[in-house]
Parts: sequence; C-alpha cells; structure tokens
Amino acid sequence: MSKSTIRTLWIAVCVVALFIAGIYAVSRTTKTTAVVLPDEPKQSELQKQYVAKGYTDEVAALLEKNYSQDSSQLLSISYTPNILDYLQQPYFRFANYDRYLEYSRKHPEYPIAQVVNRTNMYLDYDFYAHDIAVDDYSILVLANKYYRLGESYVPKDLVDIPSNLSTYAMKGRREAVAALETLISSMKSEADLTVRVTSAYRSYSYQNSLYNTYVNASGEAAADALSARPGYSEHQTGLAFDLLASGYTLENFYKTPQSQWVSENAYRFGFIIRYQEGKTDITGYSKEEWHLRYVGIDAATYITSHDLTFEEYYMMNEVNEQ
Ligand code: DAL
Ligand code: ZN
Repeated sequence: MSKSTIRTLWIAVCVVALFIAGIYAVSRTTKTTAVVLPDEPKQSELQKQYVAKGYTDEVAALLEKNYSQDSSQLLSISYTPNILDYLQQPYFRFANYDRYLEYSRKHPEYPIAQVVNRTNMYLDYDFYAHDIAVDDYSILVLANKYYRLGESYVPKDLVDIPSNLSTYAMKGRREAVAALETLISSMKSEADLTVRVTSAYRSYSYQNSLYNTYVNASGEAAADALSARPGYSEHQTGLAFDLLASGYTLENFYKTPQSQWVSENAYRFGFIIRYQEGKTDITGYSKEEWHLRYVGIDAATYITSHDLTFEEYYMMNEVNEQ
C-alpha cells in the first residue's frame, strides 16, 4: 500500500470517527433537554386550598380559571362534589347555597336547575312560613305566599273602573285600568265578545273578611287553595282583575270563548293569566283562568311566550339585578 493510500484511509477513518462522535453528542444533548422539558406546572396556593377542601386537581384548576371572582365564596362554602354543576346554573346564588344542598337532599327527584330556581323562589319553605316584606310597589310587584304586602298599603294611583265594565263600583291602578279598558274594547271589536270585571282592588281588611268567609265555609286548606290570606293578595296591589262572562260563574269562565280570547291575547295589553293549571306547586293556588294580573306589555309577552309563572319571571330578574 502506498503512503498516499494509507493517508487517505487514515483521513477516512478520522472523518467517520468524528461523524459518530457528533451523532453521539447530539443525541446526548437531546436526551438531556427531554429530561428538563416536562417539568410539572406548579399548583397555585389557591388550587392547593381547593384541593385541601376535597376537590380534585382538575376541579381545583377549573375553579381557579373560570370562577376567579368567586374564590373567597368558594372557599367559604362546604365541599360539594358537583360544585361545577351548581355554578353553571344561570340563577345560582352563593347566599342560598346551603339551602340548595338541603333542598336537593330532600328532593333528589329535582335536577339541579330546579333545585336552584325553586329554592330562589323560597319553595324550600312551606307556604306562609317565610315572610318577605314587600317594599317596592312598582308595576312588577310580587305578592304571593312568601311576599307580604304592608297591612296599610293602598296604591296611590287608584282610579275608578268604568261602571259599564264592572259588576259594581271598583278601582284599580291607573295604568292597569287603562290597559284593561283597551283589552275589553279590543275583545269587543276583534271578536264581538264581552266581559265584566267582578273584582279588582281589594283592601287588606276586605281580603281578610273574604278569606275568613272561605275558611268558615270550607276550612283553611280549601280556603288557601283559592283565596289569599290578608296581606298576600295581589288584588291589594290594584293590579289584578277577575273577569266574568255573562251566564257563567268564575269557575266556569274557562269554558267560554272570552276565556279562550283572553288566553291568546291578554299579553298584548300587558296582562298575564296569573294562576295556571299545572303551576300550583309554585303559585300555591288552583288554576284561575279569570284572574288577570297587569305586569306591562314587555313582561307579559316574555312570561306568556316562555310559559312562566310570575314567580319564575320575578326570580330571574331579581337574580340578574344582583
Ligand atoms: N284568588 C286570589 C288568589 C286572591 O285571593 O288573591
Ligand atoms: Zn282574582
């Protein structure tokens, strides 16, 4: 072998050796980097506090990420495995949280949405067992078996209902009476039907004697199904009106074309049929097709198109305002 061939071979061996050394070095570097990269993200102090309460790492991370405004409330309430389900409810309120858990325990049949909404409406208390004193007597005032009107409350803007529209002299709030007159005249012009108002504003003392008449005749339970106790009747707000069709009792009003027309058109004039069939568990009253409540056109349209009780509508708006 010539000297030059040996030198060429020697150079080739060196090049190959350098190449192998290079690959080895690169693979080592990559390996070292791979060990450093997957460093676990550290849990924040807040997440650790959630985990200490019992939440999983995953829930703790979601609570921190999605409910950052609510951390102090979330740390103060008791641990609940399905906390995220509660937080996702549009009308969820921390203030009612313990009551939600209690109501859910008593009523496992209700999904969480119902637990939250029903508790917000105080349905976790028996009727007349939890009084809230009404202090806002706007057109959207709620009077029911929880919301109690002041004994001395008399609306300031009571006006007479025209005598040709009522069975005897009675009054209602100005805006509601104007809307009622339009409803009655539209019923006449559009469908050639007539009704008369047979009850409108009722004072506390009148409601008291009316309720006691029912109690004396049929007992308290039967009276409570169809008459409000004094202070709890929306007739005292001057915004409720009972409609009578000639030849029919109130109880048979639902059989009349007037009732049909009212059920289809009342919202156009700002009225709802306040006590509907199938809603007794919320309203506390048997169905009353004849009892209209003025709430204004916007609220009436929303309530009617969504098939809500006024209690549900009131709760939804009350929570949104907070
Ligand atoms: N009949 C209704 C519920 C009232 O007494 O106010
Ligand atoms: Zn009524």
